[in-house]
Amino acid sequence: MPNPAPQRPQGAAITATAMYVPEQIVTNTDLAGTLDTSDEWIVTRTGIRERRKGAPGETTSMMGAEAVRDLMERRGLGPDDVDALIVATTTPDMVFPATACLIQDRLGLRQTWGFDLSAACSGFLYALTSGAQFIASGAHRRVVVVGSDLMSAIIDPRDRTTAVLFGDGAGAILLEPAEADYGLLDFHHRVDGSGRNDLCMPAGGSLRPASQETVAAREHYLRQNGRVVFKFAVSQMAGCIEVLLQRNGLTAADLAMVIPHQANQRILDATAERLGLPHENMASVIARYGNTTAATIPLALHDALARGRIQRGDLVVLVAVGAGFTVGATLMRWQ
Ligand code: ACO
Repeated sequence: MPNPAPQRPQGAAITATAMYVPEQIVTNTDLAGTLDTSDEWIVTRTGIRERRKGAPGETTSMMGAEAVRDLMERRGLGPDDVDALIVATTTPDMVFPATACLIQDRLGLRQTWGFDLSAACSGFLYALTSGAQFIASGAHRRVVVVGSDLMSAIIDPRDRTTAVLFGDGAGAILLEPAEADYGLLDFHHRVDGSGRNDLCMPAGGSLRPASQETVAAREHYLRQNGRVVFKFAVSQMAGCIEVLLQRNGLTAADLAMVIPHQANQRILDATAERLGLPHENMASVIARYGNTTAATIPLALHDALARGRIQRGDLVVLVAVGAGFTVGATLMRWQ
């Protein structure tokens, strides 16, 4: 008797997506009014043309709640239908309580638990992988994963090297049990804390609690060593995808779509070239939204689905590189 084929454990599939961005559009020309920069520099070096900015008083939990509200409407879910809520964010409303609690309260979700996950631009992918484990174990049937970041809260408006890159927004997805051989198939995630000083917010944590000194030194704003992060991102994005392809006996030609973290159009182009992937198969919404940190992947995924770029049965890879450093990629067969 031959051995039976190994059973793939219960998988998780993304069964709905939604997004929210604030109304206010900030163009490159708007930024050139207050910073020593230009539309031409920003478009050529990053691909970004405009980004969104939260209204005064608008927060990460408000944006996340709007995305989840839309998600639940699309799937016809009520307040008792969400088992868990995982929020990836670098800009929580407060250090504590968790943004997940604030979103739960805003939406009156009665049967959920949840938590925040901190992995900067890889946060959404790590939250997706974490949420999928609750489905795989059979513990839950509906897990909502949110990426929400109000980057305007931590960007130094006087620093042209970072102020032009980031925007505000939120995206959400629903995870449910997958049909056999559909949904999330594999993931490859790694952290490398040796990059901790190349992209960080220096103060406000236990290392440098807020003080007059930290405020005067503008240490409550994001700091980035752009060139180092750029080089790391180019090598790691392609590298993570190659690991997944090799492990699953695939080539880049098998991928219908790659949904990458949106930090710089040049990183996306270099990754596509290294993989030999047609540029149109590399999702890009960076021109419209800039880098919205944990929100970029669900925003780009929602956009690709809305434009009919992903069909049932397609192989799709999500990939991210972020502060930490954190890197990750996830392979799925779209259900
Ligand atoms: N306008 C005009 N000039 C500028 C601007 C600007 N907005 N920003 C920088 N410059 C200048 C610099 O001062 C420098 O001038 P100098 O040569 O006189 O010193 C020159 O432009 C070139 O600067 P570089 O830093 O070498 O520019 P580069 O081509 O590397 O682009 C950028 C900078 C866009 C930041 C790029 O390095 C990048 O995209 N890095 C990666 C970002 C990223 O992936 N982040 C990760 C995710 S974010 C997260 O996890 C939260």
